[in-house]
Amino acid sequence: MDTISAEKKIKELSSQLELHNRNYYVLDTPTISDFEFDKLLEELIALEKQFPELLSQNSPSQRVGGTITKVFASVKHKHPMLSLSNSYNEEDMIDFDRRVQEGLGLEVNDLFSNNKVNYVCELKFDGLSIGLTYKDGELFQAVTRGDGVQGDDVSTNVKTIKSIPLKLKGNYPPLFEIRGEIFLPRPIFDTINKEREEIGDTPLANPRNAASGTMKMQDSRVVASRKLDCFLYNVISDTPFKSHFESIEAAKSWGFKVSEYSKLVGSMDEVLEFIHVWDKKRFELPFDTDGVVIKVNDYKQQLQLGFTAKSPRWAIAYKFKAEQVSTELLEISYQVGRTGAITPVANLKPVALGGTTVKRASLHNADIIEKLDVRIGDQVFVEKGGEIIPKIIGVDFTKRKVDSVKTVYITHCPECNAWLEREEGEANHFCPNENACPPQVKGRMEHFVGRRAMNIDSLGAETIEQLYKAGLVKNIADLYDLKKEQLLSLERMAEKSAQNLIDGLEASKQVPFERVLYSIGIRHVGETTAKKIAKKVKSLNVLMNSTKEELLSIDEVGSIIAESIAAYFGDEKNRNIIERLKASGLKFELSEEQQQAGSEKLKELTFVISGVFNSHSRDQLKEMIEFHGGKNSGSISGKTSYLLAGDNMGPEKLKKAEKLGVKIISEDDFVAMIKV
Ligand code: IVH
Repeated sequence: MDTISAEKKIKELSSQLELHNRNYYVLDTPTISDFEFDKLLEELIALEKQFPELLSQNSPSQRVGGTITKVFASVKHKHPMLSLSNSYNEEDMIDFDRRVQEGLGLEVNDLFSNNKVNYVCELKFDGLSIGLTYKDGELFQAVTRGDGVQGDDVSTNVKTIKSIPLKLKGNYPPLFEIRGEIFLPRPIFDTINKEREEIGDTPLANPRNAASGTMKMQDSRVVASRKLDCFLYNVISDTPFKSHFESIEAAKSWGFKVSEYSKLVGSMDEVLEFIHVWDKKRFELPFDTDGVVIKVNDYKQQLQLGFTAKSPRWAIAYKFKAEQVSTELLEISYQVGRTGAITPVANLKPVALGGTTVKRASLHNADIIEKLDVRIGDQVFVEKGGEIIPKIIGVDFTKRKVDSVKTVYITHCPECNAWLEREEGEANHFCPNENACPPQVKGRMEHFVGRRAMNIDSLGAETIEQLYKAGLVKNIADLYDLKKEQLLSLERMAEKSAQNLIDGLEASKQVPFERVLYSIGIRHVGETTAKKIAKKVKSLNVLMNSTKEELLSIDEVGSIIAESIAAYFGDEKNRNIIERLKASGLKFELSEEQQQAGSEKLKELTFVISGVFNSHSRDQLKEMIEFHGGKNSGSISGKTSYLLAGDNMGPEKLKKAEKLGVKIISEDDFVAMIKV
């Protein structure tokens, strides 16, 4: 192909991809399959490789990430990025309305029936604000708020956010800035944290911190994997729009994602109504909102009202109240997790909060205790925010007892008395006694027998506790030495349950290598990482003898994981356990079938599995799909190739598949597909 044809083709592919991207991420109505999308993208990437001079900054290929930003350049905002004044009750809102009307020289007669000022009510998104500049319809620069005067250029990272258009459509101004909020949707935040907990990483505190932390990451490929999203809510341009609402409608037509929950209203009572509705309904949203933003709609009126030094006079934020009570702190106890992380917990005098009785609240770590200066006997304020576990937000110092004693953080493990350690940069203290500290040993066993690990469901936490107490097991290898007679000596252990347990252990010897690798509980090695490692190294022997460089060459393995693997196998006790597990017959290498590279029969096909099946478990089906080069997905979209349907499938899924024309196949059809 010559350069001219390549240029034409690249243009064509780019605009097709941008359109499909918008359909999928902004409008939520995809029109092509995953497979077709990936094919177009691959074609584009191949052409750009062949003609590097034709690679544009805003090519859809830039969305996958891969660029490293060492230092984020500091950029001065053309218009300062102000904040909003906050209000916390209805009187504040009525005051705001009065100030607005007075500022506009209107007569404040009847506050609840004025029709002279229209307001736009919007949700206040809880993320980080961003200013996007577009030149000739292309994203030119993305800058964080910073100190309001200057922020960081995070353009490379922003390009990985699929709902932010890189090229605009329609009748947009030649140069303008649009501002909005980058956020991490709740379901994605929950998934990230579940994965982190599984592999012993400290969970992220909340979606807002997660979003701003992600935006500052150096590797844009990691940013892309975090699946951030963005709502735009403020157009700054010379185009003569009459009102805020009109400008947002226009932004929508240019391809931006704007909130569907905004409402144009004509009076303060409608504003209050909007606030009441969302104060309740906010928990149903798939993202966090911490309040409502009210803006005067008319631009002329906005101009007339102007700004104070910090914020516009034409807008205000109403902050939702997190329910709050005060109660007495009776005691601070310390929990030791499976990975040895210590969590301080406040034991409170029981108090009613948000429909439940609260007795305990998280105190997170030593720094938080120090910062709050919280002491036993204090009257503390407890709040239930977005998080399920209530937290202590402060101390009522007016009620502090004269003889109160400053809290001193523990120095020894409350379970095994080992000296606690705290690594640099870590928020939590750790108990290093991993092989003898009871909750760590029991926790590792619980992880080992878990459904996604060795799947020994005849062995639950209670039995593990009994076995451990009786001195029958001290580590995971001991489990395979258990005899039925020993089990029968335990309280409440009948013949049948003892036999089930022995059978369960026996059956677990068939669990494939990649799951055994996940089960042994190497810190930071989650399910997916274990799979990737197993596929690459094929046997534990190879893994144990791999150098750091070899480990780093495995997809998903970075230096933290590599070091954790090295530390695990560097410990003689662990090597000993592995030897014993091997001798018990656990699988420490891929089966012959797995060693064959797998097939490509399902290459680039995406499956959604739903319902119950006769011959295979859902996990088995998922593995079969991956083995044959296919992809699994949890929800049906235009990108789904097949819906693999079992019994008792949800009617909603079926309806959606039919609507989108996704092919529906049975278990037998599927088996036939991979047999051919
Ligand atoms: S308008 C002049 N609208 O709240 C200020 N801000 O405390 C224009 N925010 O920095 C901001 N949702 O990060 C506006 N619908 C919304 C918002 C919103 C969230 C954030 C934004 C701003 C902060 C103000």
